[in-house]
Amino acid sequence: MSQVALITGGANGIGRAVAHRMAAGGMSVVIADFDGAAAESVKSEIAESGGKAEALSVDVTRANEIKALVTDVGKRYGQIDVLANIAGGSFYTKRIEEFTWAEWKEVIDVNLKGTFLMCREVAPIMQRQKRGRILNTASNYGLTGAALRTPYAAAKAGIIAFSKSLAQELAPYGILVNTVAPGPTDTPRVMGKESPEARRQRWSNIPLGRTGRPEDIAEAFYFLTTPESAWITGQTFHVNGGLVTP
Ligand code: NAI
Repeated sequence: MSQVALITGGANGIGRAVAHRMAAGGMSVVIADFDGAAAESVKSEIAESGGKAEALSVDVTRANEIKALVTDVGKRYGQIDVLANIAGGSFYTKRIEEFTWAEWKEVIDVNLKGTFLMCREVAPIMQRQKRGRILNTASNYGLTGAALRTPYAAAKAGIIAFSKSLAQELAPYGILVNTVAPGPTDTPRVMGKESPEARRQRWSNIPLGRTGRPEDIAEAFYFLTTPESAWITGQTFHVNGGLVTP
């Protein structure tokens, strides 16, 4: 039986690239996303290139939907080897006095609450297996902060501390928990808001001279599932062209 990777946010952008990378590495990929049409397209792309994938609909902010999803995947596959929590986003750029609590909470919920809820449901399965890899998604902003994105930076910093804590808690069960912190990455939704030229100018301070591709980030996720990364846990893997060097 091939390894089973459950990937939230796998329908678009970085999550889509991670789904492709893990399928190319021989894993059975479960794409869990609330964008059902895009998730189905990724599933078809993976099938066309000879990989195994399925698409399931879930809103990661809803505890009952996550419980149903994880129970279903656990029963049908009998194992969950990799959980990659990639669903997220910053959604707003606003001054602090303009944020409503509902908007602030929306950003915290998708990024931080969603990550917590997924880990809470999958951890017991991995503890029974006595193995597993959990990969959470932060951002360079979780380290540096970001003006006008206060809830996003707070959520991503929270994910880093949450992941370190969970790594300590789950290490005795052979479960590794790490965080990937992408820098500015050209995903269609992020790119769609800016012209390529404006984006190049805005990020001209990246030492490696370009913004990231989803595939650059996907390689880091994939590495953290391999036997070669078996002694890495509780770490934050910064993939950002040298923009931030903690
Ligand atoms: P994206 O918007 O292209 O993809 C996000 C995916 O998450 C979409 O498929 C969307 O449908 C799904 N999603 C959003 N809310 C959901 C919910 N409540 N339930 C289920 N699925 C949901 O975003 P992108 O750029 O690929 O980002 C992926 C992750 O990487 C996010 O966590 C983001 O914060 C992080 N990141 C992205 C950076 C970038 O420059 N693109 C930089 C740093 C971090």
